[in-house]
Amino acid sequence: ALVFPSVPAVTSATAVHREVNKHLQDAVAMIVGESEALHAAIDVACRVARSSSVTSLLVEGETGVGKELFARLVHAGSRRTANDPFIAMNCGAITRDLFGSELFGHVAGAFTGASREGKPGVFELAHGGVLSLDEIGELPLEIQPFLLRVLEERVVNRIGDSRGRPVDVRLVASTNRDLKHEIAAGRFRRDLYYRVGAVSITVPPLRERGEDVLLLVEHFNRQIATAAGEDPLEFSQEALDALLAYHWPGNVRELKNLIGRLHVLARGRDIGLHDLPGEIAAPSATSNDGKTLSAELPGGTLVEAERQAMKNALAAEGGNLSRVARRLGISRPTLYRKLDQYGIRRGFT
Ligand SMILES: Nc1ncnc2c1ncn2[C@@H]1O[C@H](COP(=O)(O)OP(=O)(O)OP(=O)(O)O)[C@@H](O)[C@H]1O
Ligand SMILES: [Mg+2]
Repeated sequence: ALVFPSVPAVTSATAVHREVNKHLQDAVAMIVGESEALHAAIDVACRVARSSSVTSLLVEGETGVGKELFARLVHAGSRRTANDPFIAMNCGAITRDLFGSELFGHVAGAFTGASREGKPGVFELAHGGVLSLDEIGELPLEIQPFLLRVLEERVVNRIGDSRGRPVDVRLVASTNRDLKHEIAAGRFRRDLYYRVGAVSITVPPLRERGEDVLLLVEHFNRQIATAAGEDPLEFSQEALDALLAYHWPGNVRELKNLIGRLHVLARGRDIGLHDLPGEIAAPSATSNDGKTLSAELPGGTLVEAERQAMKNALAAEGGNLSRVARRLGISRPTLYRKLDQYGIRRGFT
């Protein structure tokens, strides 16, 4: 188990600490929810934020669970000045060839297409603050040793530069993939995983947060109404029950978007069961444990829906076929037959 360094008391005497604690409290307040699972994650993130010796945090969790809020929290609680940088880079959005230069920068004319004056990478830009690397599982294997080196030595070399520049950066890496599975598949380096994930938190999916769903409905309902200068919507008990029972594959993001849509599309202020999308109002029998058919499947044929459900299940279970079969509520022989039928290669999604 990890032993955290002792954390200064919240009621520290110095103005700097008061300021930081205020920022941290504000960042915590942004994260709506009372569930124990969520608060366990918030607690660890706060400790990391306030400790100067833990320099990286891995935030795991499904899409839309609020991982970005945790990166903000670490930034808010870091014991530094008010204008420390917060730099975010989404590894899923970077062209393969550009990773090196985006992360570490380059000197003038380092490669074809390099900018004439050279440019700093995100590590340099985040110096003294927090670097948030989103979807770290997308980082190409060949770049991973370089990232590890920067994290260990805390020095960055721009591409084409022999001079190392010291960087004092806290890293918050996030992933919605199972990195252990990525390691087993040879797509993520174990040494980097141990370095980045020395301290990690898992932000729980919304379906495991119980009545937080209701708090979030309330929160977004008010927020959207206030911004639009309207009255909040009124949800019937049946509608709230359906929202509570729903499995939220897109998590908080899906819920937030739904409330926004209801504000625009609902006929009145009163929201009943019939105002909710079909998959929430009348969950389909095919989603036995509620996780198979994702909500992003409105149209299409049944065959397409089934194919997509299989792909989702394969991705969610990391290709473990017995768990995929259980998740889909079918036998393994049926699963094999369907995988062949749909031309889905086993173990690949
Ligand atoms: N507990 C929460 N309270 C208030 N808002 C939240 C909460 N969790 C998430 N949100 C909001 O939901 C949206 C999605 O959250 P966020 O972008 O942090 O998800 P994510 O985990 O980073 O997803 P992805 O893996 O797709 O990047 C954001 O608008 C965020 O502010
Ligand atoms: Mg994110």
